Amino acid sequence: MRLDQYPLAPESGERSSTGGATAVAHPNIALVKYWGKRDDELILPVADSLSMTLDVFSTTTTVRLDSEAPVDRVTLNGAPAAEEPYRRVAAFLDLVRGRAGRIERAVVDTRNTVPTGAGLASSASGFAALAVAAADAYDLPLDATGLSRLARRGSGSASRSIFGGFAVWHAGQGTGVEGDLSSYAEPVAVGDLDAALVIAIVDAGPKAVSSRVAMRRTVDTSPLYRPWVESSRADLTEMRAALLRGDLAAVGEIAERNALGMHATMLGARPAVRYMSPATLVVLDAVHQLRREGVAAYATMDAGPNVKVLCDGADAPRVARALRSGASRTYIARRGPGAGLRAGDGLPAGDGL
Ligand code: DP6
Repeated sequence: MRLDQYPLAPESGERSSTGGATAVAHPNIALVKYWGKRDDELILPVADSLSMTLDVFSTTTTVRLDSEAPVDRVTLNGAPAAEEPYRRVAAFLDLVRGRAGRIERAVVDTRNTVPTGAGLASSASGFAALAVAAADAYDLPLDATGLSRLARRGSGSASRSIFGGFAVWHAGQGTGVEGDLSSYAEPVAVGDLDAALVIAIVDAGPKAVSSRVAMRRTVDTSPLYRPWVESSRADLTEMRAALLRGDLAAVGEIAERNALGMHATMLGARPAVRYMSPATLVVLDAVHQLRREGVAAYATMDAGPNVKVLCDGADAPRVARALRSGASRTYIARRGPGAGLRAGDGLPAGDGL
């Protein structure tokens, strides 16, 4: 048994003479899903969730402070951010400034290595990287738990990307300060497991309904939501035990039923939200066929039509080939590292401002 914790933020990272920092984070895929908030403002979830952080599609974010600037400036892959992402980043920076007792505006540069148009843009890696970089740039000293709580305020799933490998995000208890303090992610103990996720891109287009809107609608209107939450709580307990045993087949079975159940809650929403497309079902059929052939492969889907297939690392190339019947592209991901500051701007270690 080992605690699946990868290196976190090194003690010193890249800092510019104007006060700034660069951080790198990776997306995560939930095996027990986060779907539903009990507090939209603090982003407190209804139930615990559990994920694997990937080693692909990293986000690199630089935050530099500019005491002369009247407003924050945000670029995404070199272009000025659109209104909605800008608003979310600026609100997040307001939160960091409020906590740090600072007023300077920031220049934020974010770069994603997700292939353009893959339909995989991740708010998880984005807000995990922003949390680590902004906390450092504004001199807000936070440990991993504090960074996870902070990242959660940008996007719930970002709380888990602070950690590498497998992480559980605790829903916590209560509301207000009690809820805020008790809701954070932490690494999960796993046995001997060589898990890979094969990402099958079936549709690269933008989604019709954002996950935030779909989540709220599901909680408010779907009669299937509460039963799923109950079963998801049981899934989490079973998932932790399966991970500890290193039982890939059990991990996969629980992950697949949890994801299908989440999509069922959305289909029950009024009006229904349906992210699965015909091509999604072709990929799901390919996963079933793999299992009939004796390959332990299990599907999970998030707020979109793309499918992620959990399998043993040794089987990943075969699984990727099999999924090409329905997918336009496939990527093989393994366990990746937690979010951290990027060292290497030439300054000696510890020579921060
Ligand atoms: C389906 O973390 O993007 O991927 O907290 O509203 O920003 P907000 O939602 P977000 O939701 C992710 C939902 C999911 C499942 C999961 O990652 O657990």
